[in-house]
Amino acid sequence: MIDFHCHILPGLDDGPKTIEESIEMAAALQKAGFTAVYCTPHLIKGAYEADNDAVRTAAAVLQKRLNNENIGLELFPGREYYLDEFLSGYLENPLPLGGTNFIMLEFPIHISAELIKDACFLIKRRGFVPMIAHPERCGIFGMPQKRKTSWFQFTNSQRKAESSKPKESSILDYLKDLGCAFQGNLGSFIGLYGSQAQKTANHLRKMEIYTHFGTDLHSQSGIKYLREDLSFK
Ligand SMILES: [Fe+2]
Repeated sequence: MIDFHCHILPGLDDGPKTIEESIEMAAALQKAGFTAVYCTPHLIKGAYEADNDAVRTAAAVLQKRLNNENIGLELFPGREYYLDEFLSGYLENPLPLGGTNFIMLEFPIHISAELIKDACFLIKRRGFVPMIAHPERCGIFGMPQKRKTSWFQFTNSQRKAESSKPKESSILDYLKDLGCAFQGNLGSFIGLYGSQAQKTANHLRKMEIYTHFGTDLHSQSGIKYLREDLSFK
């Protein structure tokens, strides 16, 4: 199994603080059946700003320690980019996931479809493929709300207005058509981020949206919440 989203590198973001903690996480991941991990520390202006070389170096140093400790886990450097006004600057010299051309992108919880479309289009134009991190945790991909008023209680003009509203799936359709990848958090399917994210995750899985999965692990203790019988593909 491959973990496509993991905050395992020490001292770069809100993941482990020391390399010893990283090694514990790696051992736990290996025990859970993972053979490879994409190391995806946050890149958020003003909060976590380690540069690409720091990420590559941290991954290489940790890999060496894992080899010495006989922990058979292959590490690949990557990043979890945040969609804000600084993204386009960071994309001048991006760090994709390992040897792939995927750029992992995290959305703020509340964001407009237009900003998402612009960012993903920009990534494609630069020759990369956006991988949307945990879409189930983003409000815009949420489950459609049940209509409180019956369709029959609407006046004709209300029905017309309802029918002309954009469809729930339009942003997903756009991103799929653009060729984006979608990474689900394994913890979302068991309610680790609340019932709304869980419902959305199961809805998106039914729609066969997901192309990749990851733990989004930030500490060794987090792995105990992941069920062993989850489907990882
Ligand atoms: Fe993350």
